[in-house]
Amino acid sequence: MAEYLVTGGTSFIASHVIKTLLEFGHYVRTTVRDSGDEEKDVGFLWELKGAKERLKIFEADLTVEGSFDDAVNGVDGVFHIASRVSVGRDNNNLEKFDPNISGTMNVMNSCAKSRNTVKRIVLTSSSTTIRYRFDATQVSPLNESHWTDLEYCKRFKIWYGYKKTLGEKEAWRIAADKKLNLVVVIPSFCIGPIPSPKPTSSPRIFLSIIKGTRGAYPNFRGGFVHIEDVVAAQILAMEDPKASGRILCSSSVAHWCGSEEGRDMPHSLNTTKIHELGFASFKSLPEMFDDCIKCFQDMGLL
Ligand SMILES: NC(=O)c1ccc[n+]([C@@H]2O[C@H](COP(=O)([O-])OP(=O)(O)OC[C@H]3O[C@@H](n4cnc5c(N)ncnc54)[C@H](OP(=O)(O)O)[C@@H]3O)[C@@H](O)[C@H]2O)c1
Repeated sequence: MAEYLVTGGTSFIASHVIKTLLEFGHYVRTTVRDSGDEEKDVGFLWELKGAKERLKIFEADLTVEGSFDDAVNGVDGVFHIASRVSVGRDNNNLEKFDPNISGTMNVMNSCAKSRNTVKRIVLTSSSTTIRYRFDATQVSPLNESHWTDLEYCKRFKIWYGYKKTLGEKEAWRIAADKKLNLVVVIPSFCIGPIPSPKPTSSPRIFLSIIKGTRGAYPNFRGGFVHIEDVVAAQILAMEDPKASGRILCSSSVAHWCGSEEGRDMPHSLNTTKIHELGFASFKSLPEMFDDCIKCFQDMGLL
């Protein structure tokens, strides 16, 4: 069995990846910023099946150089999921972002130091690095060869897409520079059950919409994807020798009605590449939202 590092163990996506890797019998390391932080409560990770025998938790911060060295040292591959730019955060703030300090450089430097064992890095990017373009409708279906237009992001103040695009480009630059084997998974808006005690990220946004605490629906048109499909895509990207480059991971494109400009451009996404790697089919919108709502109900959040 392999030993993998999954960065950002408390995150929505990473916690699911950890859960599945443990179920498959792998050894898993993960990083959190503060393992003693009661507010974040990493305790749920220890409750995952196989965690007590095969999980190790390290402390690491993306802003601290060398912080990931110990966690990376000796693993077979790294799922880099922790991010200083995350869904529902940093949306209104461009000034603070510098792709050089996104932290990806720190993780990739640690991988370069452990290049004897680290065979591949799978980075989680976002479909916002592809879909924000003035010509999105005309050139659809959009695929892995398309990139978001930073001028479009500036025009409509889409800072999440802006930062994710610069961040992914920086990762490719570092990979080329340091000759690292990088594969990038590009999920759309992820929905599904949560393993953590509190929703973060996209499930938290969805919960605020259905509880009415958000006030209004976002005027967002985009791809949606079940979290289990994102996990399957991540593991495929790590373990299939044929996987390379960017891999789009998305089910249907749908529209939440609202009034914000720029986020509702009609478009479609082409997922031929992941299907050619053997990925069978994506779960539907009703499946992902039903699973998420059921989880919220079971947790007493609805
Ligand atoms: N959720 C989606 O719908 C979606 C869709 C497409 C792409 N993505 C991408 O997938 C990645 C993970 O998303 P998510 O939704 O799972 O994230 P999330 O639940 O919001 O969690 C973000 C994670 O990043 C960690 N982090 C933040 N700043 C850090 C720092 N300075 N040092 C170390 N760790 C830090 C957090 O750790 P702490 O616990 O210490 O705060 C947390 O584990 C992000 O890159 C996001 O853009 C997400």
